[in-house]
Parts: sequence; C-alpha cells; structure tokens
Amino acid sequence: MSTQNINDKLVMVSGGSRGLGLSICEYLLGCGYDVVSFSRKKTAETTQLKSTHGDQYNFFEADMSDQDALQSLTQRVEKDIAPIYGLVNNAGITNEALFARQDEAAIQNIINVNVMGCLWLTRAALRGMLRRSSGRVVNISSIVGVRGYKGVVAYSASKGAVDAMTRSLAHEVGPRNITVNSLAPGYMETELVGHLNERQLKSIAKKTPLQRLGQTNDVASVAAFFLSGDAAFVTGQHLVVDGGLTC
Ligand SMILES: NC(=O)c1ccc[n+]([C@@H]2O[C@H](COP(=O)([O-])OP(=O)(O)OC[C@H]3O[C@@H](n4cnc5c(N)ncnc54)[C@H](OP(=O)(O)O)[C@@H]3O)[C@@H](O)[C@H]2O)c1
Repeated sequence: MSTQNINDKLVMVSGGSRGLGLSICEYLLGCGYDVVSFSRKKTAETTQLKSTHGDQYNFFEADMSDQDALQSLTQRVEKDIAPIYGLVNNAGITNEALFARQDEAAIQNIINVNVMGCLWLTRAALRGMLRRSSGRVVNISSIVGVRGYKGVVAYSASKGAVDAMTRSLAHEVGPRNITVNSLAPGYMETELVGHLNERQLKSIAKKTPLQRLGQTNDVASVAAFFLSGDAAFVTGQHLVVDGGLTC
C-alpha cells in the first residue's frame, strides 16, 4: 500500500472501542494516519492506544444515535484537532431474532445506529471535505446486505441501505474529489457474532473457501486501501471481504 502523504492525515472511525473498529484504528495508526475514534464507552484498549500513540490518537464517548452529539463531535475535531480527511463508518449493532417476533425497540435501534447514525455522521463530516474538495468515506456494511440469512431481517435492511447510500453519495460528491465505498465483511469473531455458538462458527468456516472465519485485520487492511492514494480512482464500489463465503 502506498504510504505517500499519509502523515498528518486524520481519519475518524466510529465504533472504535473494540472488534473491527479497534483493529481499523490500530491498522491506520500503524500506517501513519492520525486517528479519532468514538463509541459510547471507552475500553482498556482505547486507553492503551492513547498512552502508546499520544496526540496521534484521540478517543471520545459519543452515541451514533444522537445526531447533535455527532455534529458537535465532528465540529470539535475539525476545530481542535485537524481537518477530517477520511471517515470510516464502522459502528454497528445487530439483534438476532425472527422478524415477526422481534422487539420493536430493537428494530428501531438497529435502524437508528446503522442507518441514521451513518447518514448523520457522514453529513457532518462531509461539510469540511466539501469545503476542501478532498475526502474519503468508507462504509462498513455486511454480506447480509447482499445475501439473505434467517434472523437478521432488520440488520440486513440496515446494511442494504448503507450500500445504496454509498452508490448515490459517490455520484454527489465525486465531482468534489471525495470517494465513497462500502466494505462488506463476512463473519469475524467479535462481540457482534456472540450469539453464534462454537458449532455454528465451525460450520461457517467449513463453508468458506478459505476455510476460516475472518480476522478483523483482514478487513482493516482493505479499509486502509480505500483510504490510500492507491484507491484514488475507486468510488461507489462494494467490496466483499469474506474468504469467498458468498461467491
Ligand atoms: N463481526 C462480524 O462478523 C461482522 C460481519 C459483517 C459486518 N460487520 C460490521 O462491522 C462493524 C463492526 O462490528 P464488530 O463486529 O466490530 O462489532 P462489535 O465488536 O460489537 O463492536 C461494535 C462497535 O460499535 C460501537 N457502537 C455500538 N453501538 C454504538 C452507538 N450507539 N454509538 C456509538 N458506538 C456504538 C461499540 O461500542 P459501544 O458499545 O461502546 O458503543 C463498538 O465499538 C459493524 O458495522 C458490523 O455490522 C461485522
């Protein structure tokens, strides 16, 4: 991957307290980016990253479903830290249940965080990007946006929405030198798939051509590609990173 001009570029990563978001932060810090991340609660890992990386890394507590908080956070980052070069919309939640019986509040929450949060945060971050005619947006969607699975109807709807938003936004902001892409991971062993038991995870690995579940780093490196100079002419795309499970 090209490391040209990475120094001093700031990337904001939502949901960076654990799982994939944490790996993306670590990977980008390793590439030389400055990173700002947030989630509802800091963790031992975010405290450790702060003590290792100092000014190169900042973590805030903010909720993806709070539009005002997202706007204040992006304004504060742009004013007090640095212009936001890239945004990785990673924060996401699921709730495994058969749709007809799923709790209404759980459905609403999935849409609020995965769709509305992604829209509000992107809108807030785009203001500076449009002013500067430069920027990158990477949306973390999921293979459930392209394939059907039992028990994840609302989650699938939310990820399909993120993919659709990616394509239309790419058309709107492309003329201002801003790229927008979506990255669809397959199964990775994070808290998000905590509802799957050992037997189910083994069965998924067996059905996967590469014969294993994804590591968060397998996906973090692809997010870094979309942010890099090597991906300057790539926009509106949807890239599946699932070891071949859906091919
Ligand atoms: N794991 C997989 O197999 C898989 C597969 C396909 C796609 N994905 C996608 O990958 C992304 C990351 O998933 P993951 O597996 O890393 O999940 P995870 O381990 O559960 O981590 C989710 C992250 O999002 C944050 N978050 C959740 N709700 C939030 C809210 N309301 N406001 C702010 N932050 C919030 C969490 O922190 P707090 O709880 O502290 O807020 C955490 O940092 C998600 O978009 C998910 O849909 C995951």
